[in-house]
Amino acid sequence: MKIAFIDSVHPLVSERFEAQEWHCDFFYKHSREELKTIIHDYDGIILRSRIKMDEDFLKEATQLKFIGRPGAGLENIDQVFCEKSNIQVFRSPEGNCDAVGEHALGMLLMLLNNLKRADSEVRQGIWRREENQGYELKGKTVAIIGYGYMGQAFAKKLKGFEVNVIAYDKYKHNFSDDFAKETTLQDVFNDADVVSLHTPQTEETIGMVNELFLAHFKKSIYFVNTARGKSVITKDLLSAINSGKVLGACLDVLEHESSSFEEVMASSEELAALTQSEKIILSPHIAGWTHEAQFKMADVLCSKILSAFK
Ligand code: 3PG
Repeated sequence: MKIAFIDSVHPLVSERFEAQEWHCDFFYKHSREELKTIIHDYDGIILRSRIKMDEDFLKEATQLKFIGRPGAGLENIDQVFCEKSNIQVFRSPEGNCDAVGEHALGMLLMLLNNLKRADSEVRQGIWRREENQGYELKGKTVAIIGYGYMGQAFAKKLKGFEVNVIAYDKYKHNFSDDFAKETTLQDVFNDADVVSLHTPQTEETIGMVNELFLAHFKKSIYFVNTARGKSVITKDLLSAINSGKVLGACLDVLEHESSSFEEVMASSEELAALTQSEKIILSPHIAGWTHEAQFKMADVLCSKILSAFK
């Protein structure tokens, strides 16, 4: 088998492929057009999000048997075309879900306890105790939207915080477990104090968190997004923060990210408003990117691929 590595991934993957005498080539810097001219020679592709695997690209990959995506999101891969063309698609959300769960919780605790502002004030010699009083998670209702690997991992991390965890997933039923109670979207709107998004990027979820969606909540909420930036209409979130409907937000992903997630698109007014707000905690799409996750994603991914082609 000849495998094209289009994105960097933990070396474990190529080591384990080479141990099977699979040939690995590394094209981390090749452009999409360059790759299109050589991809017909390959049986497998390993990539994260650098290049879109759409029909225009994949029709050149005439020998392709699989695409391996270390991580979770598959929005850059045309799965319908893959199915039609007998190209198997593998991913490994099992490897980065704990990272996402911990990161979401970390951001939320940072927001509730004013840690970003308090830390920067203390560094400037400002000692304000009353103004920096926080809020506890204990007793609050945390609503998880999307109960896949990521949502479930976040629910597990919340165990011990004595919160009421409810979860809504449009595509799953009878999934209540020790960590979350299944609920309807209406009950998410009725009961949530904190809402955390764990949905993939699909036609249905793009722009899902908009003015109307936010208006449905009975209480003012804290909002956490470690899923996909394009699921949120940023200007609507900012208005909800200004009106007090949203008390604060933790955003590891932004609407303005490029599809490779490697950069934020040129500065906009919205981006400036996000970065200036004290009610928003930001990070650069790293929730699923711990050192441990890099290894686990690679390990899970190559085990799946090798067992399919042994
Ligand atoms: C994922 O979907 O696993 C994460 O969002 C990380 O994606 P990336 O590895 O393509 O940056």
